[in-house]
Amino acid sequence: MIGRLNHVAIAVPDLAAAAAQYRGALGAEVGDALPQPDHGVTVIFITLPNTKIELLQPLGDASPIKGFLEKNPSGGIHHICYEVPDILAARDQLKATGARVLGEPKIGAHGRPVLFLHPRDFNGCLIELEQA
Ligand code: CO
Repeated sequence: MIGRLNHVAIAVPDLAAAAAQYRGALGAEVGDALPQPDHGVTVIFITLPNTKIELLQPLGDASPIKGFLEKNPSGGIHHICYEVPDILAARDQLKATGARVLGEPKIGAHGRPVLFLHPRDFNGCLIELEQA
């Protein structure tokens, strides 16, 4: 069912500092900061030849990554995103296996539907699925 790795998301305490590090020290192609109020994060995408890195900084008091950064103050890998051809078919197929699907599909940072799968069902890794 899953296809390409769309991105790896890293929660960071200081988005500007993280972007400068990727641009300077790692020589990466770093995009602009994109506030995503519906998701409680500000995002910067870094484009690599074979995938993307998504830097995430909390936006607002109810940010879903606030607790993660409290536990990991210097930041850390927050989720990985796989592409699927059909988000609703993927949701139904996963639910049928007993996997916990978190909420309903929402429009993600690339303007495509995404949903999240509970990390306890996937070896401690929060998984995002994005419709390709
Ligand atoms: Co993501």
